[in-house]
Amino acid sequence: MAAPPPRSVLVTGCSSGIGLALAARLARDPHGRFQVIATMRDLGKRQRLEEAAGSALGRTLSIQRLDVSSDSSVAECMASIPGGHVDVLVNNAGVGHVGPLESTSLEQMKHVFETNFFGAVRMIRAVLPGMKRRRRGHILVLSSVMGLQGEGQWERSAGSGKPMGAQHQQWDVSLVEPGPVCTDFELKLLEEVSRSEYPGTDEVTLGYFKDVYIPASREIFRTLGQSPGDVAEAIVSVLCSPRPPLRAQTNALYTPVLALKYADPTGELSVRGLHRMLFRHSALLRGSAAVLRCLTCGCLRTRVRPL
Ligand SMILES: NC(=O)c1ccc[n+]([C@@H]2O[C@H](COP(=O)([O-])OP(=O)(O)OC[C@H]3O[C@@H](n4cnc5c(N)ncnc54)[C@H](OP(=O)(O)O)[C@@H]3O)[C@@H](O)[C@H]2O)c1
Repeated sequence: MAAPPPRSVLVTGCSSGIGLALAARLARDPHGRFQVIATMRDLGKRQRLEEAAGSALGRTLSIQRLDVSSDSSVAECMASIPGGHVDVLVNNAGVGHVGPLESTSLEQMKHVFETNFFGAVRMIRAVLPGMKRRRRGHILVLSSVMGLQGEGQWERSAGSGKPMGAQHQQWDVSLVEPGPVCTDFELKLLEEVSRSEYPGTDEVTLGYFKDVYIPASREIFRTLGQSPGDVAEAIVSVLCSPRPPLRAQTNALYTPVLALKYADPTGELSVRGLHRMLFRHSALLRGSAAVLRCLTCGCLRTRVRPL
């Protein structure tokens, strides 16, 4: 039987991190299952992707400009795609913001939502009519375990968790929920923290934020962080699944943290448990992280592998 034609996959935010790794992985797929429209808002940043794509560039991968926070940019990008035909949309573009609530302006929060929430909505609206006409398609959204965990006080990307709950009809919808991933995302957040003065925040809160929360967060990335390539592989599994899951976590090592939330519907256990670990027993947090790192470092014969 002849192989089905390659599916056209539009990925947003391919200048770095997960988007870049995914676009290159799909374009270099050994089975030739994908035709990739890799997009980024600043084409001046295309070099890393071109290098990662190698000989796939111009064959199974094209690069287009797309700023998900702009209606006209989305329209221009869609117009450049023959017939506007997109079989798979990967809503990956995203920004984060971290800091005490009282020093975060509404403008900063709106900026996060403009990209993470409305950017994804814009893209879904752009591809949905075609998917409905063809009666098939797959919309995949890079969500996060933070959206499940809801660490509301410091993280401003958690609440902006990408829009979903779209009708599950002839097309598939999947939320991919990574834990920490070692990309520019964390570096950008840390740079922002080092630049910010957090006006309006009292000294005790600022002390907790800078001296406890940020080091603990670094430790979690260092210990449990996946590579963008790991997440790209998890996404390929979702895309190629005969029955794509609505939700897919990529990092099994993060599951115990989420289990606290589901174990107690009042939320008490997860909020108190996490806050105690962070603010009162940070040595215990570092210790558990060190044990996990040891278990997964590869020097043991039986490795714990992320899904
Ligand atoms: N890293 C993590 O720990 C983690 C965990 C869970 C979920 N995620 C999610 O995974 C996705 C990818 O993040 P990443 O870790 O790969 O971070 P990243 O390396 O910072 O990549 C983010 C990408 O989004 C692009 N972007 C930002 N605003 C955009 C806009 N308005 N229009 C188009 N592109 C835009 C960035 O482009 P520029 O280079 O132009 O800024 C960049 O290409 C994000 O949605 C993030 O929320 C990340």
